[in-house]
Amino acid sequence: MQLILRVISLLQLIAIIVAVKVSPLPAPRNITWGTDGPIQINVPSLTIQLNQDNNLLSDAFVRIKGSIESLKWYPAATEGPMSSMQPFPTATNLKKRFDKRYSGISTIEINVDDFDAALQLGVNETYTIDVTPSGISVNAATIWGALHSLTTLQQMIIYDNNNYIIEDSVSIWDAPLFPHRGLLIDTGRNFISVAKIQEQIDIMSLSKLNSLHIHFEDTSSWPLYLETYPELTNDAYSAREIYQTSDIVNLIIYAQNRGVRIIPEIDAPAHARAGWQQIDPALIACGESWWSNDVYSLATSLEPPPGQLDVLYPKTYEVLDNIYQELGTLFPDNVFHIGGDEIFGGCYNFSSTVQAWLAANTSRTYTDLAQVYLDQAIPIYLQKQGRKLIMWEDMVLNGNTVPKDSVILQSWNGAQYVPELVEKGYDVIVSSADHFYLDCGYGGWITNDPRYLDIDANEAFNNGNGGSWCNPYKTWQRIYDYDFTANLTDEQAQHVLGAEVALWSEQVDSAVVTQKIWPRAAALAESTWSGNRDPTTGYLRTTDLTQRILNFREYLVALGYPASPLVPKYCYVNPHACDFYKNQTILDEFGLHQT
Ligand SMILES: *[C@@H]1O[C@H](CO)[C@@H](O)[C@H](O)[C@H]1NC(C)=O
Ligand SMILES: *[C@@H]1O[C@H](CO)[C@@H](O)[C@H](O)[C@H]1NC(C)=O
Ligand SMILES: *[C@@H]1O[C@H](CO)[C@@H](O)[C@H](O)[C@H]1NC(C)=O
Ligand SMILES: *[C@@H]1O[C@H](CO)[C@@H](O)[C@H](O)[C@H]1NC(C)=O
Ligand SMILES: *[C@@H]1O[C@H](CO)[C@@H](O)[C@H](O)[C@H]1NC(C)=O
Ligand SMILES: *[C@@H]1O[C@H](CO)[C@@H](O)[C@H](O)[C@H]1NC(C)=O
Repeated sequence: MQLILRVISLLQLIAIIVAVKVSPLPAPRNITWGTDGPIQINVPSLTIQLNQDNNLLSDAFVRIKGSIESLKWYPAATEGPMSSMQPFPTATNLKKRFDKRYSGISTIEINVDDFDAALQLGVNETYTIDVTPSGISVNAATIWGALHSLTTLQQMIIYDNNNYIIEDSVSIWDAPLFPHRGLLIDTGRNFISVAKIQEQIDIMSLSKLNSLHIHFEDTSSWPLYLETYPELTNDAYSAREIYQTSDIVNLIIYAQNRGVRIIPEIDAPAHARAGWQQIDPALIACGESWWSNDVYSLATSLEPPPGQLDVLYPKTYEVLDNIYQELGTLFPDNVFHIGGDEIFGGCYNFSSTVQAWLAANTSRTYTDLAQVYLDQAIPIYLQKQGRKLIMWEDMVLNGNTVPKDSVILQSWNGAQYVPELVEKGYDVIVSSADHFYLDCGYGGWITNDPRYLDIDANEAFNNGNGGSWCNPYKTWQRIYDYDFTANLTDEQAQHVLGAEVALWSEQVDSAVVTQKIWPRAAALAESTWSGNRDPTTGYLRTTDLTQRILNFREYLVALGYPASPLVPKYCYVNPHACDFYKNQTILDEFGLHQT
């Protein structure tokens, strides 16, 4: 009996050691550690051997090797001087095991099946890595899968006792659960510099997010230079806050080199004023109106400044056509985002054409008006063979008809709408504001707002949402724990192409963009790559992500990216010391226990 118990506890010990390896983010779909002990990697002389020359992969390798060499990274959670509790999950006492070191690996062998597959929605991102004492070998379906293998290796090669090592032999099979793993940034409300956009791409690549959705303009500014209408950027904030054509071309290449697609959004017909009004003021309804609230029935916009395209003005479609001709030559992606959110009826009170149209047939509604727009605009947006469109869900929720085979809906109004849209037969990208909006919880931004003074009369405003329309702030836990395919059958879930976190930029510019996105977006990166649940037990693996995301944040800061701290450092270097419950088994009752 005694002996059996000892055997069991020894097995448990092995299980713990196996579970405590350095843990890349996102967690691979399947990672199986061996028992050979630490494997030395000769990083300064490390090379890759490809089955066919490829500059994109060679360059990526040089960058990644540079990071490994300059960082000499070692995760702090394993050996904090104050560490009192069982280290978890990255901890391992390497020094004790170091005697078993092997002579070292100097080559990564990479075998790619298809070097030509373009970086487009649904491209095969599968890869495998096998690390043994005699070498590292990678197999990948495409160069995009091979890139992912490199960012995984980058996070697994650590520096200990004056050596670069991988902690043990290991075998990884990895592929994303969802083809669209996105981040939205907004360069209309405030400008975001090219360098800061590149920074987002760097971190997306490291966390395997693959779709950067840029909401380029809004009513407030138009920073995107287009040759067709140079006057658009008269409504940029300044000459320094313009994306020149060369900036865009370089950004697309920069992103592609890192496996990231750029999806441009020109929002229409709402959220339109800046830029358009420079082409022809008659394109815009209500652009000169007062936006708000003094008399609510006269409000023309949800936020200042107001403006929507006049969808009954024929020239609107001529301009859309010209803009999309140029966008089509600039952006290589097969998916364009056409906006389509928040048409606000009150704006059209200021349009004589719309008022006459409504008066001509009193059965007509604003939904009918939106359909007039859709029927003319969608063929223009689809002008390029094979293109697909992403559209905000609003018009479909309002009863409009859009083609299901060419339009993907992005759902933001709330988790409850995802099943409804899928039921209707649409492909969906989930960005529910109640879980995935990163701009929430920072208070209001409307100026000269007397509601802050009269707390009693504005109880909910002051003590509830604090002026943030989508309060509360979305923590990484809230992002990660959201089962965005819940309540769907397996067949329906196939229509969820992925998810996207969104950082609208009313209160964001280059100064703060990175700290507001990271590391929170990494929680989505993992839930869209390998899921938020343990594949065998079905438990939410939030506990398991904790140390991984804390470590990822430290890693970002070490690389020079200003990501926000999530905890007092004490909680990072002392894994589990800041847990709500000491008794981990209690977590089972909440479906949270790790395996
Ligand atoms: C992971 O891979 C190992 C080794 O190939 C295999 O035995 C195991 O079943 C896989 N686990 C899952 C969850 O796919
Ligand atoms: C991706 O490529 C791998 C081989 O590299 C293959 O096994 C897998 O079926 C492919 N996946 C898809 C969705 O085509
Ligand atoms: C303006 O439009 C809104 C929404 O369509 C409507 O409810 C309101 O009565 C209109 N106001 C005027 C003054 O026409
Ligand atoms: C008036 O508008 C309604 C709603 O769009 C439509 O069903 C009807 O056919 C229109 N009538 C005429 C005469 O155009
Ligand atoms: C799934 O449906 C249940 C019951 O209607 C609801 O409480 C829950 O919020 C839904 N989950 C999601 C993610 O939509
Ligand atoms: C831990 O929690 C479990 C489940 O609630 C309970 O059964 C067990 O007695 C607890 N252990 C301790 C040491 O309190």
